[in-house]
Amino acid sequence: MAANREQFGSRLGFILAAAGSAVGIGNIVGFPVAATKNGGGAFLLIYALMVILICLPIMMAEFAVGRTTKKDPLGAFEQLSGNSRGWSIAGFLCLLTPFMISVFYTVITVWLFGYLYNAVIGNLDKLARPEYFGEFINDGSIFIHMVAVACIVIVILMCGVQKGIERAAKILMPALLTMLVGLMIFVLTLDGAFAGVKYFLIPDVAKIDAGVISAALSQAFFSLSLGMGTLITYGSYMSRKTNLPDSAKLVALADTSVAFIAGLLIIPAIFSFNPNTDTDKLSDSSVSLIFNFLPKIFLALETTIGYIGASIVATIFFLLVFFAAITSLVSLVEVPVSGLMGKKNYSRRKSLITLITIIISLSLICATSFGMLEFFTKFLHYAGADKSFFDLIVDIFYDTILPLNGFMVCMLVIYRWKKHNFNVEMEHADAPYHGTLLERYVDISLGTIIPFILAAIFINTVSIKFFGTNILF
Ligand code: PHE
Repeated sequence: MAANREQFGSRLGFILAAAGSAVGIGNIVGFPVAATKNGGGAFLLIYALMVILICLPIMMAEFAVGRTTKKDPLGAFEQLSGNSRGWSIAGFLCLLTPFMISVFYTVITVWLFGYLYNAVIGNLDKLARPEYFGEFINDGSIFIHMVAVACIVIVILMCGVQKGIERAAKILMPALLTMLVGLMIFVLTLDGAFAGVKYFLIPDVAKIDAGVISAALSQAFFSLSLGMGTLITYGSYMSRKTNLPDSAKLVALADTSVAFIAGLLIIPAIFSFNPNTDTDKLSDSSVSLIFNFLPKIFLALETTIGYIGASIVATIFFLLVFFAAITSLVSLVEVPVSGLMGKKNYSRRKSLITLITIIISLSLICATSFGMLEFFTKFLHYAGADKSFFDLIVDIFYDTILPLNGFMVCMLVIYRWKKHNFNVEMEHADAPYHGTLLERYVDISLGTIIPFILAAIFINTVSIKFFGTNILF
């Protein structure tokens, strides 16, 4: 089985595909929102530290686990633990998590597709109406958009690792970067944009507290696609001739650079729209920023570049976020697809069709949980609030399970697979990695401080999300 496993065709292909997974809605919208809420430049500083000190070692561990076993996360956990039952459950969680996250990620990608479509057909004025988003998400047309998104994902994944995932990343990632940089340059020429640049870049060290640190860590963790089995899966398609430590550094750098540029696009755009922006009062969710606030900003450009000009800017923006979302969604769905292929010996086609059918069914339920159907809108009541089906999936899989999965990857690598074997895999095709400061840091941190922090975050999140009490800060 492992012998004829599909592989990425080149190192660049691997890096672009992994960066395609990492660069997503989290970078382009989540990062700027988190930065504005947590002190601008101060957040930036802490974020960079979190990427280097905590996330990069986990990324290396996940790639190494995938490459050494050439298996999906469940198969990899089983192999490295000698088929222990407990570790298999942990491996299974690394399949279930991306599967469930793909459910809510699909819903947001579908909304993005709908907004893109409306911007293209000249409906920017409609998108900018404050009540539009509420109407849009409860409108039957989203089901048509959902079919379109599902077809795109199916076409890419059906073509396999090299001809599907890698080829899509090679086209979409450079296109995304070009649009992002182009829009950033355009926004920076707008009146008042500079105030946003200042807010984004100058750290207000007084703002740094435990809350900012924890926000930066969870943002970096999600943004780099950690704890989700995606990097284990992509690692399993990585050639053993590829230099693993350098590739991981490049993926982390690419992801962080995109988030940084997105910050230089969105925050100055907000300040240019309203020079007296009070960042404390800005929308506090990515969803409301992207779907309520940004269309208003785009429409305001009408006075300088005309309605068509403003619509083109909006179209480019939604297209670039859509590209980012599609490459991430593809990587999320690929994890359980490869799991089913490995465990049940299904063909790629059978595995994909089975899973997409279930994902779309659950996404349909999610899509109706914003008011369309009362049952799913008020699905459960916990921690003092009504929760929709969508909220439930986000609370369990995005907020809670991710750090737990990260914790288990660290424990597996250092205490079960063992440091020595991990280092042998890391040094393969990169002999100079041996004995470096980075190697020593990665080994020590993965066995101590990183799992400790992740365990603390996991316990605190369970306490906040399900019992309404913050025990740490
Ligand atoms: N990293 C992606 C983002 O920033 C989300 C994602 C996580 C995608 C995990 C795939 C796997 O939006």
